[in-house]
Amino acid sequence: MAVTTGQIIKWKQQQRPIVTLTAWDYAIARILDEVGVDIILVGDSLAMVALGHETTLPISLDEMIHHAAAVRRGVKHALVVCDLPFLSYQESISQAIHSAGRVLKETGANAVKLEGGHPAMAETVARLTTIGIPVMGHVGLTPQSVHQLGYKKQGKTDNEAARILDEAYALYQAGAFAVVLEHIPADLAALITNKLPIPTIGIGAGPDCDGQVLVTADLLGLTDKQPPFVKVYANLREVITQAVQNYSQEVRDKKFPI
Ligand code: KIV
Ligand code: NA
Repeated sequence: MAVTTGQIIKWKQQQRPIVTLTAWDYAIARILDEVGVDIILVGDSLAMVALGHETTLPISLDEMIHHAAAVRRGVKHALVVCDLPFLSYQESISQAIHSAGRVLKETGANAVKLEGGHPAMAETVARLTTIGIPVMGHVGLTPQSVHQLGYKKQGKTDNEAARILDEAYALYQAGAFAVVLEHIPADLAALITNKLPIPTIGIGAGPDCDGQVLVTADLLGLTDKQPPFVKVYANLREVITQAVQNYSQEVRDKKFPI
């Protein structure tokens, strides 16, 4: 049975950890889904890991839709969530409805994710969830605000920590079904996880979140440099390099094809 947002919330109640990873194309999505990953996120990090941009800011809604549709075709079981890219939802509630609606209608994704939990964003989330568009929130380090925040850990002062807790709670009240907590202290993430009836999905937020997410390209060792909280589970860069070297040599030596 395909994963639903209701199931995700039930897993929090049962304290069953929620496995989340990113995907940017059909081939990767199929593998993650066949392994049984719970949530597959078409993260706008694909702007960096798949398209070579310096930040997530340049990617367009059309590009996200193109990738999300490919991912969706590879997924039978997992919940598919698609990031709304920078400036596709911040302008107005109607812009957010238009963008999120396009994602759901044109890709078949189950939900959208957007960054920030300040009052204006909570209002946007409330409108989206009211009209039947499931929303995953994202607070702490929000990479679409890189020009203000950099990629530093957030929530290290009491004031900042209190603000992030308020934002996460406002997203819950606005109807979000889960919230990503990125690069914040583990004790703050634990506190938010305890206060929120909806699941927290952590990245660089310690072990006490209801689920974990990583950028799949980082986990697979496809990126040159990873954030400090990443664990690299495979070195695909090395595997691919070796395979391409072997092929090149065999073509030059006239050993392939035989
Ligand atoms: O774009 C992304 O990959 C993300 C995750 C890191 C949560 O937003
Ligand atoms: Na993202």
